[in-house]
Amino acid sequence: MRKILFSIFLGVANLGHAQSVVAEHLSEVSAQDKANALEVVLTGTLRRDKRAPGKYISLDDDFRQLRDLCWQMRSLDLSGAHLDSVPANALHSRHHLQKVVLPANVKHIGSQAFFACDSLETLVVNAKVPPTVDAFAFGNIDLSKVKLIVPKKSRKAYKKAAGWSAFFGKCPNTLVQDPGLGRIPQAVPVSLIPIPAQLEELKGVFDPTHLGQIIDSPELFNEHEHLLRILQNRCGMKSLSGEGKARLSINRSLPEEGYHLRAEGSDLTIVGGSPKGVFYGLMTLEQLFYQQPRCKAVDIADAPRTAMRELMVDPVRNWLPYEDLKDFIVEMARYKFNSLHIHLVDDQAWRIEIQAYPELTEKASFRVGMDDMLMPIGGYYTQEQMKELCRFAAKYHVTIIPEIEMPGHEVAAIHTFPWLTCAKLENGEVPIRTTCGVSNELLCPSSERTYEFLETVFRELAQVFPGQYIHLGGDEAGKPSLDCWTYCDRCQDLKCEIMGTDSLRGNREGNWRLQKYMFDRVIALLRDELGKTPMFWYETDFVEIQPGCIGFAWRDGLTQAAIDAAQRCDAKLMLCPGEHCYFDYPMGLNDMPEVNWGMPTTTLEQTYSLDPAWGNGSEFEEKCLNGVAGTLWSECINSTERLYYQAYPRALALAESGWSPQPKRDYSDFLRRLAPITADMHKRGICVDY
Ligand code: ACM
Ligand code: ZN
Repeated sequence: MRKILFSIFLGVANLGHAQSVVAEHLSEVSAQDKANALEVVLTGTLRRDKRAPGKYISLDDDFRQLRDLCWQMRSLDLSGAHLDSVPANALHSRHHLQKVVLPANVKHIGSQAFFACDSLETLVVNAKVPPTVDAFAFGNIDLSKVKLIVPKKSRKAYKKAAGWSAFFGKCPNTLVQDPGLGRIPQAVPVSLIPIPAQLEELKGVFDPTHLGQIIDSPELFNEHEHLLRILQNRCGMKSLSGEGKARLSINRSLPEEGYHLRAEGSDLTIVGGSPKGVFYGLMTLEQLFYQQPRCKAVDIADAPRTAMRELMVDPVRNWLPYEDLKDFIVEMARYKFNSLHIHLVDDQAWRIEIQAYPELTEKASFRVGMDDMLMPIGGYYTQEQMKELCRFAAKYHVTIIPEIEMPGHEVAAIHTFPWLTCAKLENGEVPIRTTCGVSNELLCPSSERTYEFLETVFRELAQVFPGQYIHLGGDEAGKPSLDCWTYCDRCQDLKCEIMGTDSLRGNREGNWRLQKYMFDRVIALLRDELGKTPMFWYETDFVEIQPGCIGFAWRDGLTQAAIDAAQRCDAKLMLCPGEHCYFDYPMGLNDMPEVNWGMPTTTLEQTYSLDPAWGNGSEFEEKCLNGVAGTLWSECINSTERLYYQAYPRALALAESGWSPQPKRDYSDFLRRLAPITADMHKRGICVDY
């Protein structure tokens, strides 16, 4: 039974008629109608799939469809539906949602069910007994602006009920208490992530409120500003007027990112190996204040285990606004991550302005649809924005690593310039991809025009991003895509020439040598001429990692093969094995994203258990290990809130894996330290659960 009422609404994405949908279940409604729906009325027993153990929910799930497919929905009326429970994350970060009506039989509202539904104006709950409410069900919403309508005789009960009183202006809408400025300092346990190399708790407390002076040098101007910010935000200090002294200084004999922090009585000393080291001392100091504005007196000597701690974001599959990248940097720096890797280009979009080729962003930065979500997804970063982002990130000692994929995952460029590929294209073009997966069209390695294009792009990139690193992609060009080179005569000629034999002509075997040829040419430009360090996703076909480059070990089950290659080539490696570091995977079955391309799960404990040396001992670690990375591929991450939800708290486990000495690490102690840190994230409106 289904009826669709057509009506015209203004201010709606232009995807045809705006409409109201009335149905028992959303599976009865077409994809386009779901995408256009502003008002949804469901009347059936809402489906939460009963699924076999180990299986994800199916596309039939009504809540998943409400959240992700009815992406324009303003009003949801479930008064005629049957449901006991609004599941966790049910309408997570649906920013358009203004009105919700819940039925009389609802008994429970799951964690983060309405998280960041920040346009919510009216919530009608027809249940006489207030449903139980899990933590952060209404997180990141100003509940004083939401009109709660409940059965008249139940109003008193709602006013008193946990989770509902906030609608009546009684308490904040999270379960976290305020930091208690002005309370008598009780020494709370020190809870730091990543755990420092050496931590000594001293007698007494450190009380920064008596600090009267900061003694430092002009080189530490940025760190001086951070200290003032911390004292103001964490300790409520608008000025310095006491006897105590804060001394910030540099001792170049310490490791570059290392520091020594002593905080005792009214005095603070931070000595870093460089401004970075001082900054990390300050990040530790800030965490000491997470629970209250005074802390236990401590003496900390600390330095990172690995040189690079990275998070990777993917604004291609789902767009990430530039301002949100800034906030993301501020958060990651708290845990001593020092690199943000931005995947700027893929089959689904081209997201960086290239001045020589304006067509790339004109033609390939907008599309409708990511798999079954029929939403418009558009945007690109201007070069000015990226320069500004790099300046901003530098204040947090975060380097931006831009990634341009080659030779695969390049459909956006090939859509714009079909001459970049030697794949046979129907009607001479390839559409922008609107689904996840791997496309068959590759850049042609035997065409000089390909190199002109790449050189122009990378030269522009090198002057926009001042950091040392440029990532060249390189993943998933192998199967079955290399066939596009098998049927290109020019490519086969080149392969035979490189291999000095005709024996593999017309055969896909050996085609990977063409990828190496292409990489060698681009690496020569970046490394030898532009002084950059090229990076790439390591595939076992490559066999080698070129000198001066950094490989990424990413494939589940193939980490040791990448380590062997790094050791053979005396090269550097980043560890981001899928089993530990793919934060786009859900933390558990049916956690977000419940419907996906078949991802495994990565639990918090699995992430924590990553040994960056992979059991290979100190020789590998000292010579080849560059660091660790966590990926946030965004096929299924369609809001910034969900980006944080996927990233944290696993990124905290990764931060510790990349920074702290192995003998210091203990999962149960990590969980103890995690609680106050995630509580602080909640206070700052960051969505995190575990
Ligand atoms: C990758 O996940 N394709 C590097
Ligand atoms: Zn070719």
